This record gives sequence, C-alpha cells and structure tokens, in this order.
Amino acid sequence: MRILVIGSGGREHALCWKLSQSELIEELYCAPGNGGTSSVATNVGIAANDIDRLLEFAQENEIDLTIVGPEEPLVLGITDSFEEAGLNIFGPNAFSAQLEGSKDFAKRFMMSHGIPTARYRTYTDLNDALKGIDEFTYPLVVKADGLCLGKGVTICEDRLSAEKALKESLQDKIFGKEGDRVVVEEFLTGTEASLLCFVSHNKLFPMESAKDYKQIYDGDKGPNTGGVGCFSPSPLFTPQLKQKIRDSVLDPIERGLEKDGHDFTGILFIGFMIEGDDPKVLEFNVRFGDPETEVVLPRLKSDLGEIFFKALSGDLKEEDMEWDEDPCVTVVLTSGGYPGYYRKGYEISGIEMLPEDLVLFHNGTRLEAGKLLTNGGRVLSLTATGAYEEARSRIYKSIGLIDFKDKSYRTDIAKL
Ligand code: AMP
Ligand code: GLY
Repeated sequence: MRILVIGSGGREHALCWKLSQSELIEELYCAPGNGGTSSVATNVGIAANDIDRLLEFAQENEIDLTIVGPEEPLVLGITDSFEEAGLNIFGPNAFSAQLEGSKDFAKRFMMSHGIPTARYRTYTDLNDALKGIDEFTYPLVVKADGLCLGKGVTICEDRLSAEKALKESLQDKIFGKEGDRVVVEEFLTGTEASLLCFVSHNKLFPMESAKDYKQIYDGDKGPNTGGVGCFSPSPLFTPQLKQKIRDSVLDPIERGLEKDGHDFTGILFIGFMIEGDDPKVLEFNVRFGDPETEVVLPRLKSDLGEIFFKALSGDLKEEDMEWDEDPCVTVVLTSGGYPGYYRKGYEISGIEMLPEDLVLFHNGTRLEAGKLLTNGGRVLSLTATGAYEEARSRIYKSIGLIDFKDKSYRTDIAKL
C-alpha cells in the first residue's frame, strides 16, 4: 500500500515512524514533513492546507490512503474533496470537523446528547455578552468559537478581564472571523487528561489515555503552549473511570453522531477535566494530539496501517488494538522564547549520541545541506517507554547530549 501522511510536526513523525513498521506499507510519503519524517518516509514539498495540490499528488502517485495530521485541512474540507475524487482518506469531513472547528457546534452537540460538560452560553453581540456574563461566577472561561492556534481561550478571574476578552474577540476582532462568536463557560476544577479514539463510521475505539503538560515552565507556570511534555497512561484512568467514560461520554457521542447525521471516520480526541470520579468534556479535537501521539503510539503493539484500513471499511474491533502495559513519557525540547517570539535555523547537534532505548521525534526541524536545523517553537521530543520514574530518568540523563542555541525544556515532566 502507498500511504500519504499530511503535516509536519512531532505527531506526524510519530505516525510515520509507527506506519513504517506496518506490514502493509510499501511506500510512505509525508507532506510537507520535517527533518525527522524524512528518515522513515519521503518528504513531499506541499503545505498541509494546500488541498488541491495534495489531491493532485495523491492521484498522480496512486496513494491508497491519506492520513490527515492537523485540524486545518479537515476543517477546510480535505476529506470531502478526496472522497469526491474517489480516494481513501482517514479524517472526518468538514461537517463533522466542526466538532473542533466551532466551539459552539461542539457545545451544542454535547448539550443535546447529554454529554457532561461545563455550562455555557454563546454570544455574537458584545452588549448581549456583557449582560449575559452576570449569570456566571468567577473565574469564567471565554473562548473564541473558531480555530485560533491554541490562543482563543482566556480564563477570566474577574469581570474586568472577562470584558477585555469579550471586547478583543467580538469588537477588536483579534481572531478575525474565528472570534465572531464567543462561548462563555463555567470554570471547571480537577485534573486534565486526553483520550484519543479511533472512530470508524461513528463507532469509538478508545486508545490509551495521556496527560499533556500545557504550560511552558516547571510547576505549570507561564503561558500555555501546544504541549511541552506528556505521558501515557493517565493514572486517573482506572477500570472504573474507563467504564464511566464509556457509559456517560463515549456511548452518548456514538448515539449523537448517528442522530445528527454524521459519518465520522478518523480520530476524535476528547479533552477531559476529571474531578474525583466525575469526567467532564472540555473540548473535542478531530485529529491526533501533539504530543499525545508521541506517547500513545509507542505503546501500540498492533499494526497501525491495518487499524486505519479496518476503520475505513467498518471492520475494526477492540481486539485489533493491543497495548503495551509499560507507560511512555516524552519531554519536548523547545526554542527559547516559545510560545512567544523565538528564532529558527540553529544547528542541532548530538542526536547520534542518544542511547538506542530512547526514541526521538522531530517536532520542528529541517534538513539543509546535510545539517539539522531548528524550525519551530517545539523542536524535538525525547521519548522513553518504561515505568514512569525509570523512563523519565532515562530521558533526563540523555537530554543534555542534544544541543542547539537557546534550547529549553521542562524538568518536571512525569514527576508523579
Ligand atoms: P480548550 O481549547 O477548550 O481545550 O481550552 C484550552 C485549555 O483551557 C484547556 O486545556 C484547559 O486547560 C483550559 N480550559 C478550557 N475550558 C475550561 C474550563 N471550562 N474550565 C477550566 N479550564 C478550562
Ligand atoms: N496537546 C493538545 C493538542 O494536541 O491539542
């Protein structure tokens, strides 16, 4: 089989790494890929949201299956275009991708199908919003409706900061049309966890859980990032909690998808806030998480290519997914300054000295004239499988071998 993976992050490197171990795969391409994907796949110089050129490439190269990493092409309708052209693609169509592309759409879906989530209101008019927020207590959460590169959520401690967030989105349009609508919701307390599910025609097959570290500094301090460390599984996911999630979240999602006329095949990433034994849904994403993928896929013992094909044909079963009992930990090396301004293009050295029992996924790198250069805020993810304490100590023992200017990382990942 000939496979095309779309995207250029650590998630896509982990996907290509795992797919390259699949019995089914003869040719693997990654568009546009990065300095790591090229060691397991052929990089193709087409941007992830250039749907027309991706379609042309898939047709010309007789691609049997395309797997979409990031959300943007899904929200833009890449699946609809590929399916119209008769090509296999793993990812939801534009209608279902609204579960990530519009917070209001996702909240309406959750409310109408009895899925536990924070109480909310949606506003398009600033004056209505300024009146409406009196229904909430503080802190409250203001969310721009659309895709805002992870910057659309503001936790507001008081009325003044809520007014500011509402004005920025609805009046000053700092998020453009992505912020024309705003969701205001109650603040939930507890511990966050991520659950990625393979979805085959509206049926959910949960993978192992994961815990993402969002803040840039140790002790969960500083601004939010895309995720700078992760481990799997989340210790909160006891058999009892998994059963509760199956009954109170996954089953209602499956019924809701059917009832609302979706035909969802792809990944549904459920972001949870868990307090005691009470799981509530914070958000949906319609794609693999990053860095969740870097800790979940190394634990998958089954053939990932086979899972994708079975999900598409509707033949996937729970038994098709076998998981390694051992946890997995990843620590992301970042460019100094991230998630604010940072520089790219610094040479990376030392990766050939890493021990063989670590896996290195590239988040933001590129190869130029034989040199590996930094090419993003998140640069590399150093990953180890083993008991938490042992895996984390193997990572931190070797992390100093990798060097690039302004290298930065958290020192408390998986310190349980
Ligand atoms: P989202 O993009 O909706 O996941 O929001 C980004 C982050 O904001 C989440 O991972 C949480 O850390 C935080 N967050 C979002 N909604 C809430 C909420 N209702 N209560 C508490 N924290 C939240
Ligand atoms: N790590 C969170 C995300 O992928 O959205």
